[in-house]
Amino acid sequence: MNGNRFAERTIIVTGAGSGIGRATALRLASEGARIVGVDASRTRLQDLERELGDRVATVDGDLLQQLTADRAIAAARGRIDGLANVAGIMDGFEPTAEIDDATWERVIGVNVTGMMRMTRAVLPAMLAAGRGAIVNVGSEAGQRGSAAGTPYTVSKHAVNGFTKSTAFFYTPRGVRCNAVAPGPVATNIEAAFRSTLAQERLGPVMQATLPPVAQPEALAAAIAWLLSDDASDVSGAIIPVDGGWAAI
Ligand SMILES: NC(=O)c1ccc[n+]([C@@H]2O[C@H](COP(=O)([O-])OP(=O)(O)OC[C@H]3O[C@@H](n4cnc5c(N)ncnc54)[C@H](O)[C@@H]3O)[C@@H](O)[C@H]2O)c1
Repeated sequence: MNGNRFAERTIIVTGAGSGIGRATALRLASEGARIVGVDASRTRLQDLERELGDRVATVDGDLLQQLTADRAIAAARGRIDGLANVAGIMDGFEPTAEIDDATWERVIGVNVTGMMRMTRAVLPAMLAAGRGAIVNVGSEAGQRGSAAGTPYTVSKHAVNGFTKSTAFFYTPRGVRCNAVAPGPVATNIEAAFRSTLAQERLGPVMQATLPPVAQPEALAAAIAWLLSDDASDVSGAIIPVDGGWAAI
């Protein structure tokens, strides 16, 4: 029904156990892709295996560890056409003066360092093939200072910089790199307000501007487009997929 844009192609999807990553894995598989699904949750990956059968190889591991990226490359068995860096975590809406080191290190570690390690790991195969597509998942928090706490906001601005720099270096060698920036999406992501100041400052802004919550399939469709040859001339773009939030 969705066409066959990814026939014979292998695509690594991180965060494939839930939310946007899971919807992306299902969408790509429905268009013919073989998926390497990476997630920290073994249970969620087992559910994906039940859904996709032999169209998916799963890697259960923490993206904070280099070993997880190495295992994903091994599971791809020599062919990597695309990478969707979807896995990510929220902060507790901490403003700068209230940041604890553990939250900072974990949010930057998963959202930025994990994405870098996974991308660094796929590039040799893509460059050898002279082609490849990478899509990172940023956020509305990468467009403004009023959508999350400071750690998450910093991490998603970093996703944008990482996307542009990677596109700059590798587009001439056939590897495209783009990002989508979602608004609110109905997933399992945990986001609890742990700051009174954040409630006071962010509450009214969000109430006034927040668009309706999107379904993960809407993000999956945009990610699939960027990974496909339909986006063959798109690289270095940060595309809001946010119900118009970025236009406010
Ligand atoms: N849901 C939203 O409203 C929203 C908005 C903007 C951006 N995003 C971004 O979308 C991406 C996907 O989030 P989601 O909403 O689908 O969340 P989700 O929690 O439903 O799914 C994320 C998946 O990533 C996995 N994961 C988290 N940390 C990991 C780690 N260290 N190693 C391996 N796997 C790990 C989790 O186990 C989970 O299955 C994230 O980058 C998030 O920042 C989400």
